[in-house]
Amino acid sequence: MSGDLQFDSQGRLHHFLTTEGLDRDTILQILDTAESFVSVGEREIKKVPLLRGKTVVNLFFESSTRTRTTFEIAAKRLSADVINVDTRVSSTTKGETLLDTIRNLEAMHTDLFVVRHSRSGAAYLVAQHVPSHVRIINAGDGSHAHPTQGMLDMFTIRRYKGSFENLKVAIVGDILHSRVARSQIHALTTLGVPEVRVIAPKTLLPTAVERLGVHSYTDMRAGLDDIDVVIMLRLQRERMESARIPSEQEYFNLYGLTTDKLRLAKKDAIVMHPGPMNRGLEIDSSVADGPQSVILPQVTNGIAVRMAVMAIIMGGKAQEEMPAKRPARRHA
Ligand code: NCD
Repeated sequence: MSGDLQFDSQGRLHHFLTTEGLDRDTILQILDTAESFVSVGEREIKKVPLLRGKTVVNLFFESSTRTRTTFEIAAKRLSADVINVDTRVSSTTKGETLLDTIRNLEAMHTDLFVVRHSRSGAAYLVAQHVPSHVRIINAGDGSHAHPTQGMLDMFTIRRYKGSFENLKVAIVGDILHSRVARSQIHALTTLGVPEVRVIAPKTLLPTAVERLGVHSYTDMRAGLDDIDVVIMLRLQRERMESARIPSEQEYFNLYGLTTDKLRLAKKDAIVMHPGPMNRGLEIDSSVADGPQSVILPQVTNGIAVRMAVMAIIMGGKAQEEMPAKRPARRHA
């Protein structure tokens, strides 16, 4: 699936569907814009008027806590009107197709859809069928992409490590089913991270994963050597057709992140996890809650990053009025 659909004829970001094919400047523009939104969340009045009068619909066909909530908070901080469609009680359960659901919500003058779906390509399908003034953000499609998670992870890495140029990053666990890993890998390689490793049992590594520009390891201890950033992934049992791990205990012994294994990485390595975590399966609580964990800051950063993506793709006026660029007294 290419990312071409996400740019307009002038090369501006129109939808946000994947980190694949995004150029370095666009990624940095998102990170820098997010940086300017961090302070909004720390103010007494946590709102800017960039999306005032716009309607955002959160359309989640898969369960989610962090992603759905942070999209909602982000849209509200931009002053948009936000509607969460509960797909458990929506007409899709009566057989309505995804596109019919979208068409109906579009008839209510929605400006931006945030779509999560268990089918890879769902957000693309929607983007292909909406009129050009409607924008789509992919909040996770099957095992394909989860680009705002990828971006918030880049934002978190830059905040703790300063830059990307000298880093060694390891992504550990269920790479095969992970849309997060794919979105991270495209962003990390585009940002010039010189060494990206994936660590997993062979059964959880995609075939020819090296083509993505990563080195693969089946031995976690070898893979963690000298690493600056350790990203743990959830074992996505709901996406596994058959047993891909011998037993949970053995998986934890070989691939669970413990304080003991973390010692093999650099002393100041940070530990990340997109959540939800399986404590005691891919990560030990002593690490998840330990001093090197930045798992909760990732969640907080998700708000500023999602505000940035929404503001950028809604374009035009919104971009002119971004906090960093706004002339001091224009709205006084
Ligand atoms: C991820 C997702 O849903 O893809 N979580 C998230 O967005 N916070 C990862 C996962 O489900 O394991």
